[in-house]
Amino acid sequence: MRKINRWLSAISISLAIVFSLFSNARAADFKREVIYQIVIDRFFDGSTTNNNPSQSSGLYDATKTNWRLYWGGDLAGIQQKMSYLAGMGVTAIWILPPVDNLNTNIPDGQGNPTASYHGYQARDFKRIEEHFGDPSNTWTDFDNLVTAAHQSGIKVIVDFAPNHSTADNAGEFGALYDNGTFLGNYTNDTNGYFHHNGNISNFDDRYQLQYYALFDLADLNQENATIDAYLKAAAQQFQQHGVDGFRIDAVKHATWGWEYSFANSIYTYGDSFLFGEWYQGGTSDPLYHDSYKFANKSGISLLDFPLNTAIRNVFGVTNSNFSVIDGVLSQEGGNFTWKDDLVTFIDNHDMARFLSINNNTNRLHEAMAFTLTTRGIPCIYYGTEQYLHNDTNGGTDPYNRNMMSGFSTSTTAYQLMNQLSTLRHNNPAVSYGSTGQRWINNDVYIYERKFYGSVVLVAINKNDSSSYSITGLNTALPAGTYTDYLNGLLGGSSITVSTGSGGNNPVTGFTLPSHTVAVWQLTEGSAPPEVGSIGPTSGQSGVKVTIAGRNFGSTTGSVKFGTTTATINSWTPTQIVCTTPSVTNGVYNVTVTNSSSQVSNSIQYTVLTAKLIPVTFTVNNATPTQTGDYIFLTGSTVELGTWSTTWDGAVGPMLTPNYPNWFLNASVPAGQTIQFKFIKIAANGTVTWEAGNNHQYTVPTSGTGSVNVNWQY
Ligand code: NOJ
Ligand code: NOJ
Repeated sequence: MRKINRWLSAISISLAIVFSLFSNARAADFKREVIYQIVIDRFFDGSTTNNNPSQSSGLYDATKTNWRLYWGGDLAGIQQKMSYLAGMGVTAIWILPPVDNLNTNIPDGQGNPTASYHGYQARDFKRIEEHFGDPSNTWTDFDNLVTAAHQSGIKVIVDFAPNHSTADNAGEFGALYDNGTFLGNYTNDTNGYFHHNGNISNFDDRYQLQYYALFDLADLNQENATIDAYLKAAAQQFQQHGVDGFRIDAVKHATWGWEYSFANSIYTYGDSFLFGEWYQGGTSDPLYHDSYKFANKSGISLLDFPLNTAIRNVFGVTNSNFSVIDGVLSQEGGNFTWKDDLVTFIDNHDMARFLSINNNTNRLHEAMAFTLTTRGIPCIYYGTEQYLHNDTNGGTDPYNRNMMSGFSTSTTAYQLMNQLSTLRHNNPAVSYGSTGQRWINNDVYIYERKFYGSVVLVAINKNDSSSYSITGLNTALPAGTYTDYLNGLLGGSSITVSTGSGGNNPVTGFTLPSHTVAVWQLTEGSAPPEVGSIGPTSGQSGVKVTIAGRNFGSTTGSVKFGTTTATINSWTPTQIVCTTPSVTNGVYNVTVTNSSSQVSNSIQYTVLTAKLIPVTFTVNNATPTQTGDYIFLTGSTVELGTWSTTWDGAVGPMLTPNYPNWFLNASVPAGQTIQFKFIKIAANGTVTWEAGNNHQYTVPTSGTGSVNVNWQY
């Protein structure tokens, strides 16, 4: 039996490799990927020559006892483990920031040395950290890693932290370098590269979040033209070095409006996928609405923190009812336009590992199976598959950043990832399908993913001892017998479905034992074209757009934005690349027509007026407001909301550190003369327009801009 298993897994590993060589999916559609998050310093030491580099010597702890020093992991180490990753079904790695970080030791409160081993204190966004690459900070090891990853069918996502450089009160005092050339620092900031407002104290205050410092980290001023250009060039340099996507650190803390132009700059250069870290506990967070407005408009998807909280509560020791997960899925489903692009996770480098909050491997497997099959792009934290955890101090940072303990390919978690990654790749119901609950109680969750005729039905029983008898379950799976896709790996067995009506086919009653996950599935045969993905979700004329789905056929057909036909750049049965046409700015329905004139469903895309430039709008002495009333910006192009007067349609809410003056940075079309006005949206929804003629402004063709006007009475 063991031998057969090993033999089977050898076959599936080689199949996974063969598959990836032929798939070549664009980064713009990440929904078929399984992401694996890696703390570079803690994965594998592939080269000892970079452990204690001279420019930052003394930050390495060979004994691995000080959890806040470098432990030796590096880019070469990740490269050496590529077949381990591919065999697990990992199709993308997210590595923590690999750029040149703080060179000095900053002692902690107890006088122990600490280093920026995690990568979140950049000093030079254009060079590679010497502990991760080589002592000359070159790109060689980074390039080798990207090449090796791509050869194994694995995409590379880089963590990019545009909010700040290094600590503003110690070490290098925020000193920032442009490929080795000193730009400036926080203490002697003659060029206005940083905000100098102290630390954020109120994490619900939009102004503080964006313009104050996060934990004494020198807060970059993205509206400064030098910083704007520097950060955009640094991201582009990563694209030139082959990265497929970016995890954007602390998106809630960098200037939100500027981030739209940052995303647009990346998409204008090339194919990419972006998701940001907008930390929040759940959907009742006061800024939850801001978070989904941001995700819907900026081109930057988000890590799904509300679902993360629910997963930890439901599968963790809190043992919350499955209705908690179901509730978040349905609420977010109504709010996020691109919910399938949300990045889902169980744990990460900023919270205790799952096994530290609930030392129960069954529950971990159940949480993994859920994350890998629910809507959104799954991201698994390194070491999860080895059951890695250290429970010191509850397992919180830094004890969640363990050195990888081993690289066994025979753990259940490793096999589970491999199998569910293959399912995600092959069955579009997992990547693009709707998500519906079919049967639920406190301990059992049976849900269905469905994309036209493709269906995946998943049943989880998380109870430690009780089995449940499942009666009255319906599914969209057609009549027949379905074996467990996981072949009983987590205790599942077959079901029998008979014919019902209206997409509700009855499943013959069965028993779901305690700690079981079963997966039953069907992939639809030929059918008319079905679109499941578009990326990016906005762009100006000329920006390449990837449309993914099924049944496009191998003969080129056509793509329409509204009624305008787009130029096709490439066409396969599952993926089309076309070019944003030159049409009036606005929101369009995009459709695919195959060579037999069959038309697909439509998917939404926003055609921007031009590439985006960050402009700071100020309106002085805006009409008196009461608590809960906000000033918004609205104007003549889609970037300005096309004169919308709603909370989600107009640009804002604006910020008022100097009441009654309001300001906001917004990304607007380069070189265009825009018309705009300010409005008040009162707490009760009443809209008040400022009087007079529209304001007018010609946006610069590059750099940044600012406008300052008085509210017209
Ligand atoms: C969030 C990151 O995930 C965290 O690890 C980091 O310390 C802060 N942002 C600051 O960059
Ligand atoms: C309607 C508003 O009432 C007006 O003030 C504004 O100028 C226009 N929309 C935009 O042209």
